[in-house]
Amino acid sequence: MHVVCLDGVPSFEINEPLLDRACLVLSRIGDYTSDLRPEESRALGEVSNVRSHQFSSGRRAAHEAVHQLQIQDSAIGRTERIPRWPAGVLGSISHSDSLAGAAVGLADTYLGMGIDLVPISAVSDKVAQRLLLDPELKWVGEMGSGDWRTALFSAKESVYKAVNPVVGEYLGFQDVKVNVVPDALEFFAATIANRESSEIVAGGHGFIHRVEGHWLTIFVVRK
Ligand SMILES: CC(C)(COP(=O)(O)OP(=O)(O)OC[C@H]1O[C@@H](n2cnc3c(N)ncnc32)[C@H](O)[C@@H]1OP(=O)(O)O)[C@@H](O)C(=O)NCCC(=O)NCCS
Repeated sequence: MHVVCLDGVPSFEINEPLLDRACLVLSRIGDYTSDLRPEESRALGEVSNVRSHQFSSGRRAAHEAVHQLQIQDSAIGRTERIPRWPAGVLGSISHSDSLAGAAVGLADTYLGMGIDLVPISAVSDKVAQRLLLDPELKWVGEMGSGDWRTALFSAKESVYKAVNPVVGEYLGFQDVKVNVVPDALEFFAATIANRESSEIVAGGHGFIHRVEGHWLTIFVVRK
């Protein structure tokens, strides 16, 4: 995966064959509202400055990723909240208070791609008790230190962002179990019950990184 870090975000490499023909762009949150295409501005509507900065920073990262893949760029509108990608690519956007990220891959290679950025330690024990499954909580306990509960939360969100646009089915946090391979910083996912999304969730592969005080998770389903 080609990684581009803008605005002084520390650069790093992802040498992973399963993430070929894809680009990740990470940047800082700023006000890029005036760079939005008309369709994107319409999709955003009247919102707070914080939301406008996050949305426009996410679109900026996404356009840069499309550009890096040498694909004809166009407005990235949305259907409900799901981004509508230019022809030939698909991907995913995430933002925190400080960082924006977009992962984009070629549509002839990927069926789905999800990315999620969450500040390390963002998920408290109390929230984890509500969102994670019992075997996941047990695993987090066994791992001891390392804030794996936030990593699991982020992994689930990246699974959802990869799968929901393809299947259109809502999956709650308790509907999907994530299995992390900590040494490899990889993860796999499976639905708890048999449902429409089961096959595509099970066919995906997840990757975990730590970037500037955040967990970054990427979940891809290849064609
Ligand atoms: C959709 C969701 C994952 C977004 O995460 P978030 O923490 O709110 O915010 P992030 O910054 O990480 O991501 C927001 C971006 O996700 C994208 N997004 C929103 N809904 C999406 C969806 N259904 N599918 C794919 N991408 C989606 C958008 O690009 C959005 O940014 P934008 O509105 O500026 O374009 C979250 O709000 C949600 O609804 N989660 C519940 C379902 C879930 O996670 N289940 C886990 C088990 S699989």
